[in-house]
Amino acid sequence: MTEEKDISRLTDSEARAELAKLAEQLAAANQAYHTNDAPDISDAEYDRLKRRNAAIEAAFPDLKRADSPTDQVGAQVADGFGKVTHAVAMLSLGNAFEDEDVTGFADRVRSFLGLPSAAPLEFTAEPKIDGLSLSLRYEDGKLVQAATRGDGATGENVTANALTISDIPHQIEGAPQILEVRGEVYMSHADFAALNERQEAAGDKAFANPRNAAAGSLRQLDSSITQSRPLKFFAYAWGDLSAPLAETQFEAVERLATLGFSTNPLTKKCNSARELISHYRSIEEQRATLGYDIDGVVYKVNDLALQSRLGFRSTTPRWAIAHKFAAETAWTRLEAIDIQVGRTGALSPVARLTPVTVGGVVVSNATLHNEDYIRGLDNKGEEIRGGKDIREGDWVQVYRAGDVIPKVADVDLSKRPADSKPYEFPPTCPECGSPAVREEGDSVRFCTGGMICPAQAKEKLKHFVARKAFDIEGLGAKQIEMFFDDETLPIKEPADIFTLAKRDEAQLTKLKNRMGWGEQSATNLFAAIEDKREIAFGRMLFSLGIRHVGETAAKDLALHFMEWDALVKGAETAREAAVAWRKADEAEETERHAAKAEGRSAKIKATRDATIAGCSVPITSTAAWQDMTGIDGIGATVGLSLTDAFANAQERAAIDRLVAELTIIPPEAPSKESPVAGKTVVFTGSLEKMTRAEAKARAEALGAKVAGSVSGKTDLLVAGPGAGSKAKKAADLGVETIDEDAWLALTEGL
Ligand code: IVH
Repeated sequence: MTEEKDISRLTDSEARAELAKLAEQLAAANQAYHTNDAPDISDAEYDRLKRRNAAIEAAFPDLKRADSPTDQVGAQVADGFGKVTHAVAMLSLGNAFEDEDVTGFADRVRSFLGLPSAAPLEFTAEPKIDGLSLSLRYEDGKLVQAATRGDGATGENVTANALTISDIPHQIEGAPQILEVRGEVYMSHADFAALNERQEAAGDKAFANPRNAAAGSLRQLDSSITQSRPLKFFAYAWGDLSAPLAETQFEAVERLATLGFSTNPLTKKCNSARELISHYRSIEEQRATLGYDIDGVVYKVNDLALQSRLGFRSTTPRWAIAHKFAAETAWTRLEAIDIQVGRTGALSPVARLTPVTVGGVVVSNATLHNEDYIRGLDNKGEEIRGGKDIREGDWVQVYRAGDVIPKVADVDLSKRPADSKPYEFPPTCPECGSPAVREEGDSVRFCTGGMICPAQAKEKLKHFVARKAFDIEGLGAKQIEMFFDDETLPIKEPADIFTLAKRDEAQLTKLKNRMGWGEQSATNLFAAIEDKREIAFGRMLFSLGIRHVGETAAKDLALHFMEWDALVKGAETAREAAVAWRKADEAEETERHAAKAEGRSAKIKATRDATIAGCSVPITSTAAWQDMTGIDGIGATVGLSLTDAFANAQERAAIDRLVAELTIIPPEAPSKESPVAGKTVVFTGSLEKMTRAEAKARAEALGAKVAGSVSGKTDLLVAGPGAGSKAKKAADLGVETIDEDAWLALTEGL
């Protein structure tokens, strides 16, 4: 630090020069921090410069610059976006598109709760605001934290920005001691238009739509920018609470209004699917004149006690659904069909389009799913688009619904070029040349190249480092592309990530000395990798990108097997039974065709039994297969895929190399206090106080595994009246058996 002259001894010209220098230094620091996300001086040093600047200005008021750092409100270094773990996860909603989906929703709710179709059941219906959700935490009436949804479990801390939104009270009276208010931040059409005018006048980029504008405005590191953007907020839900707000959804939202929040005036109570749909139509009619974007109507079960009985699926509540408005469409030219190879080897055709605006967003690609879809058939072999096929050069109608990838809705045959030819799906992988095959009953063609296919390997790696997988900071899709083809420091498979630092040490030219890298970025990357050497079992399994093994399946498998080695052993032991199962599937398919051709009914069970018997599977293998596929939510499809992955020598070796680099942490049972956590429960007989679905969901929420059949692994059998063979088997095996009332007593109040 250079010696500073006492301000009282500065001459005018010295003061002027120092103010100029300070303005420049502070502007550079702001730029480094806010724009580049890479602060180059410490917060303390920054503060010192700012204080010095203010002191000189106070002593020489005439010399204060027009661009004085003192006047730049909020330009001081904010805390960046810290991470916030939501006390109650912020979930999303299932979607309904057709009227039947709405009736289906109401029927599912009734059936889950065991309500007869004539029993009254109230819902609320309200607009689905097209903005971004925000969770506001109030403690003792004071707003202490605002967080974005993020991935649902962890969001970004945007408290300083939320405080600038006038719809968001800083202080509320008469609320529970802890109250998390949830709702949507959005921008009105008028404010959006005015903002874009200002952006353009200032030579800045215009926003594509109000939702993007709202998101871009809320996620500003400098809250003075957020303050200058006209954001609004509607409250419609809550998270953590120290006391209930009300007994119904409708009253709870009314209570939020009383506390000072804006709530949507189009919220209505409805008594049937018919009433919900009629309110949906009425909101749809008003849509154009509301002055803000909505993309559907949200239906919620009104009674909060019923909401809590209904609970959640993995990411969506059973008690609510979003009825979306029909997607916007546009016509354009399909210029070419490209084939992309995914991580599982699936060949996915993509339509390259002449760019066209659909609902405010420019669309230049659309998914074409698979070869049947291009031909005009769905995955059951039935005609779609009236059987019209899709060809290069066609004039097509594209649509997008919400955030989903645009799709092709229709083809205008009158505009089809005379020389066009039906699209021929490649029989080989365009990336590695290996044969691309379709299995019986599967509409997707797969590259058989496995590990030798660079596209598969790269996509697998990108999945491996993705946010829901290993989530390694500084190692994203872009870096994978770079390292994959790197000659000195290649990453060809996941294990290579964890040997990167060691391999770098042995290199002459270190990563830090390479173009685009530096001491800091290389150190950060190696540290971020080290940080992930310890990894949760479920996350690890999901990260492998095995077909059909999604996040939920991976978590369920982890909870069942608890130890990595147990999973591997299970998959190995189940292998022979899995092979037999697949043969039985094929035999079944053949029998079905034969029966159809011969005009008789198919002998499915006999065919399967005979095939499996013909495979003479060891009993241990059958037991392991039943154990794996008996896990709730894990069926034969996941089982087959998993056993395939572990049976493939190359894939297995790559997995083992990775495992050798890691410490895999066993999962924790979700609810520790629960007496059934980690136990395997089977329900049998008729239940009278709850439906089977409800019992199962409740048991799972309490950390139990629910199985369909009694085995040596069963800890508890809940048997209602009419329990038959399962109760007998449980008795034979010495499995504890209780009735429904005992089950309720055991789980009450949890
Ligand atoms: S209720 C448990 N109500 O839609 C889920 N969500 O697709 C509670 N949204 O993440 C959400 N308007 O950002 C609810 N009136 C409304 C909504 C609404 C918009 C958003 C919200 C949510 C997303 C789900």
